[in-house]
Amino acid sequence: MPISRRFQLLEKREVNRETFVEPWPEAGLIVADSPADPQPSLRIEAGRVTELDGRPRDQFDILDTFIADHSLDLAAAEIAMATPSIDIARMLVDINVPRAEILHLVAGCTPAKLVDIIRHMNVLEMMMGLGKMRARRTPANQAHVTNRREHPALLAADAAEAALRGFAEIETTVGVARYAPFNALAILIGSQTGRGGVLTQCAVEESLGLELAMKGLTTYAETLSIYGTEGTFVDGDDTPWSKAFLSAAYASRGVKIRFTSGTGSEALMGHAQGCSMLYLEARCLLVTRGAGSQGVQNGSISCIALPESLPGGVRAVLAENLLATMLGLEVASGNDALASHSDIRKAAKLMLQFIPGTDFITSGYSAMPRRENLFGGGNFDADDFDDYNVLQRDMQVDGGNRPISEQEALAIRTEAARAIQAVYTELGFPAITDDEVEAAVLAHGSEEMPSRNVVADLAAADKFLPSEQNILSVVRALQIRGFEKVAANLLEMGRQRVAGDYLQTSAIFDRNFKVQSAINDVNDYSGPGSGYRVSAERWQEIQNLPQVKSPRDFIADQIGEPCARLAELGPARPGVSPEIIVAVGPAFGTELIRTINGLDHEEVLAAILTGVASQGLVARVVKIYRTSDCAAIGYIGAQLSGSGIAIGLQSRGTTIIHKRGLARLSNLELFPQSPSMTLETYQAIGVNAARYALGMVTTPVPVQVDNWARLRLIVKTALLHRHETEQVQDQPPMEMRFDWEPDL
Ligand code: 5AD
Ligand code: CA
Repeated sequence: MPISRRFQLLEKREVNRETFVEPWPEAGLIVADSPADPQPSLRIEAGRVTELDGRPRDQFDILDTFIADHSLDLAAAEIAMATPSIDIARMLVDINVPRAEILHLVAGCTPAKLVDIIRHMNVLEMMMGLGKMRARRTPANQAHVTNRREHPALLAADAAEAALRGFAEIETTVGVARYAPFNALAILIGSQTGRGGVLTQCAVEESLGLELAMKGLTTYAETLSIYGTEGTFVDGDDTPWSKAFLSAAYASRGVKIRFTSGTGSEALMGHAQGCSMLYLEARCLLVTRGAGSQGVQNGSISCIALPESLPGGVRAVLAENLLATMLGLEVASGNDALASHSDIRKAAKLMLQFIPGTDFITSGYSAMPRRENLFGGGNFDADDFDDYNVLQRDMQVDGGNRPISEQEALAIRTEAARAIQAVYTELGFPAITDDEVEAAVLAHGSEEMPSRNVVADLAAADKFLPSEQNILSVVRALQIRGFEKVAANLLEMGRQRVAGDYLQTSAIFDRNFKVQSAINDVNDYSGPGSGYRVSAERWQEIQNLPQVKSPRDFIADQIGEPCARLAELGPARPGVSPEIIVAVGPAFGTELIRTINGLDHEEVLAAILTGVASQGLVARVVKIYRTSDCAAIGYIGAQLSGSGIAIGLQSRGTTIIHKRGLARLSNLELFPQSPSMTLETYQAIGVNAARYALGMVTTPVPVQVDNWARLRLIVKTALLHRHETEQVQDQPPMEMRFDWEPDL
């Protein structure tokens, strides 16, 4: 077979490093509509569900039983199940149907009914649904903070920076389980340095997770994993009831919880029972609600690559986010685990949650470089911060983050690293040295950190966990060492746990340490002008990228003392000799003195005149006042030229060779790429102009084409052109004297 060079290169594209597989329903490798998925049905007898999605009660598995007994609002069920699914789908996108009405109706829907509603929706409609149905009006974002060396100062510094960057929740995990109390402590101190009120968690085995929470080291827990089939639950040594019990245990200690589920886990664990991923996720979501969890982290999470290997996978993942919101649950909507090699594919997927907004758009943005992410690499990481911030600015979308300056980052990282250093000293943990603090502030990753004594750290962590030392000991340590603000924030987090307001659905703390939840910040979207809108203040913050420059800065290099060797003589007359006219723009050598790429106007003129002189001709310089347009400048010059040949030169350097008799917008040669022009090019243009005047055979001057130049320089180009256009006046062309000796 002949080899196509284009296919050869396509094959090397990032997207072709992915796995794409055909659906196989029997193995659960299908995102929606598996032949084994049941049809929706619900029978209620004497206030008790006797049939759910085609299965009679005596055939219920543990999920059916739990859902039938705890998850359905039976008062709403009759109407809900009788309402055509397409009608509910339409209500989701109809701005005239309020969220509350849909919540009420959906509360009576079985898993198969939920999936049946989604069947009618495309991704755009689902995004509209998500924008309306998410619980909290204000969107937010969540970060991962880990590093491979599990270095406490680096964890604290990264958590502080993440908090400053706007993340409302920060989670860590462990490489070595015994580090858990120290990692939790590090991000707690770091986060409260960055901004008081950021919620933190440490994802570990669940009884250890509960211990950390009770010690005050974490304020939320999210990895209460549940699954859509009985087989997966059993493999995980759990049941819906055990998860409900665990979540109640957390909540009773003032710790916010959400479950984790998501498409793909059952197929991955070999227990999909031939059902589609979305149907099984619908069951998970009903279990979540039945268990009393205020919310869920879904969107496939760690399994994301599996639905993405199948047709419709990204749509299904959006569908599960939407289903969660339809059930009134807070949703941390995925976009966390590494899901694609392709930047295009990653960004496109993100938009499905980013544009409508969710409670946490990513349920784990890697706040450090990807290689440091102990959750298995983040889909978006610290190196993508600027991209994320630019997307917010481009679309005027609040993605929960904010740009910060290097200076701000260094300051907050220093404070956090010093705070954890102080706590380690006060509590008698293995010391954190000044060198470690400094490295934590400046390092890209943990490989740049000085080594710590792992054995000593782990021994100290082992001792700390069962000890009497708790969050109050940490507060005291911070206070003694002068970290008043961090101490106060930590104490307030403890106090908030007693108050418990942040156990409400979708609760986060705003910048004034006030709870913002679906109770006091309920999503009231009802079409244009309603719901969440980026406030003037927030819009300023989103716009304010450190990379943004003032327009004046773009043309500062082109402005300066007017060229001393150029002087205006008086109105220019038409010539008769075989001369060349060099017609320059109205700002040339005066209001602007350099071309876009910094060539002095005098040097440019000298180069052109040298080129003309090399062919034995002379050139007159004429300034055009009536236009700033390059073609028009050249055209007017050609009318004045004795030979009929003129070179039109805009101040930014764009050049044309014109000839009398040609239409205004026609030309002999055009050099639109001013940034690529060199003095050699200008000299060659002078040579060619002279050759045209002499009637010689002439090869056009080769032009360099840089397709990125326009992209890079369009602002500068626009501002330079505006500056030149400002000089346009109703004045005839002026003869110029240019003090120059040919250097031949
Ligand atoms: N379903 C259930 N739990 C999941 N987790 C990740 N993805 C899923 C999923 N699709 C859990 C992991 C771990 C945490 C990161 O979330 O088991 O506990
Ligand atoms: Ca998470």
